[in-house]
Amino acid sequence: MFVSPLLPAPVRLDPLTGVMTPATGHYRKRMEDLAGVYSDREAFSALLAHSPHEVVYEVYEHRAVERAGDLIFGTSILYPGKVGREYNMTRGHIHRVSDRTEIYYCLKGRGVLLLESREGKVSTLEMAQGSVSYVPPHLIHRSVNISGELLVTLFCYPADAGQDYGIVEASHGMGVLVVDDGFGGWTTMSNPRYILRHE
Ligand code: NI
Repeated sequence: MFVSPLLPAPVRLDPLTGVMTPATGHYRKRMEDLAGVYSDREAFSALLAHSPHEVVYEVYEHRAVERAGDLIFGTSILYPGKVGREYNMTRGHIHRVSDRTEIYYCLKGRGVLLLESREGKVSTLEMAQGSVSYVPPHLIHRSVNISGELLVTLFCYPADAGQDYGIVEASHGMGVLVVDDGFGGWTTMSNPRYILRHE
């Protein structure tokens, strides 16, 4: 259901599914949309051949205007799964106005928020139901689902932030991969394809 975002209206959010009603926008990213995102190209090709339309994540958003002072909020729903050893994740971006920040409130599931500076310094924040994760200014960020269920988060960021996905594509991903440790947990390993940025 879509309504004019400038008319005040109550928004309902189902924490189990992440469905937000009304929303001003909704999109799905499927396996076929994510070429080049995962490190294990062979595993990706096999998944793509078998199930190209499989949904990896979807987003509902409430976006009224893109002016400073306003907020954009919504839900991110990241499906469970792996490509090779690498857990399902979002493409990752830095805000186009890079000092703009963001918070993620985890409603369901378990995940990792992967953060990286332009200089390549990486940090990880574990997300679990009830956790609030803050993305400081100037950091690239990406969500990873490390569980066998949906990872549902509520996000909120300044309306004039924008997103730059090219910074992640240009460096062939982020500095580390979040992978299955083989013992039912997760760990990070360095990204063999990574190209350090030169500013
Ligand atoms: Ni963001």
